Amino acid sequence: MSQLTYSRLSHFLRTSVHKFSVLRTGTEIKPGPAWCVQFTRCQRSVDSKSLQERQKQQMAKGLPKQKPITGVKQVIVVASGKGGVGKSTTAVNLALGLIANDPVKSVGLLDADVYGPSIPKLMNLKGNPELNDNNLMIPLTNYGVPCMSMGFLVDDVAPIVWRGLMVMSAIEKLLRQVDWGSLDYLVVDMPPGTGDVQLSISQNLPVSGVVIVSTPQDIALLDARRGAEMFKKLNVPVLGLVQNMSVFHCPNCNHQTHIFGSDGARLLADTLGVKLLGDVPLHLNIREMSDRGKPVVISSPDSPEAEAYRKVAAAVVQRLEEVKTCLI
Ligand SMILES: Nc1ncnc2c1ncn2[C@@H]1O[C@H](COP(=O)(O)OP(=O)(O)O)[C@@H](O)[C@H]1O
Ligand SMILES: [Mg+2]
Repeated sequence: MSQLTYSRLSHFLRTSVHKFSVLRTGTEIKPGPAWCVQFTRCQRSVDSKSLQERQKQQMAKGLPKQKPITGVKQVIVVASGKGGVGKSTTAVNLALGLIANDPVKSVGLLDADVYGPSIPKLMNLKGNPELNDNNLMIPLTNYGVPCMSMGFLVDDVAPIVWRGLMVMSAIEKLLRQVDWGSLDYLVVDMPPGTGDVQLSISQNLPVSGVVIVSTPQDIALLDARRGAEMFKKLNVPVLGLVQNMSVFHCPNCNHQTHIFGSDGARLLADTLGVKLLGDVPLHLNIREMSDRGKPVVISSPDSPEAEAYRKVAAAVVQRLEEVKTCLI
């Protein structure tokens, strides 16, 4: 069967609906007096509504069915349109913050950035996952968090040059060919952008909510907004925004500078009608500890930076509860 693209499909539906309406009424709509124009407009709006409805139904038929991951209660996605804004750092410290706030909870980390995996470095993990008796990969664990990443499966310096379909199949394997055990939360660290991975995860998994990370500057906020709007379109609840690198505290003189601006993410959260989940400062400690594979929530638990991440984790849990009650 030839591939039916969205535009072809919509063109096909558009023409068939118009044909249908002409056949049904048995009359051709001709330009005429004002009431006639009004009638034509009204007819058009009814046609376009039913067209949209039919388009939705047709599109839904082509979509994969959402299937939960065995043993995983809630999936939290950490995303943003842009790279380098702190998604991976936030995902790692969010996962650890969830455990720090409630040690009974079990939390896993999935690195969905197949082109540029960061979780092995950030979580100080290396090696190939072993297989269990059911041929499922056993995640590598550090700081009590089981992790899975493409970085465990390919050489450190090997370039990953894949087309979209291969990426989607890799994501499917990283999600489902893994023995996650029993998890309260699986935190997914997304690649930048609004592409195949974001679509694949949102359409294949029941995602409980997405956390959007952005620095407060315009260029990052633009992409963050695009990211948030994409998840809204895919019916994934946007839990809120994390404003990262909002303020720089000079370690020598304690002066505070808003290098990327002060309130950009807060304003964007207002515009999107979502919550600001927290503010994480731009801090040398966060960068240094991340590079050493010792996230601040673990290495400096009493620092204001760690406190900022724990606050984000608490706000995420609260929002998940709110979203759940909205859906019931
Ligand atoms: N709040 C922060 N303070 C200092 N450095 C940060 C902060 N957040 C992230 N970084 C650093 O910024 C760089 C990019 O972060 P990363 O989490 O890899 O971004 P992304 O996943 O969005 O590409 C890393 O070097 C990281 O250590
Ligand atoms: Mg990253």
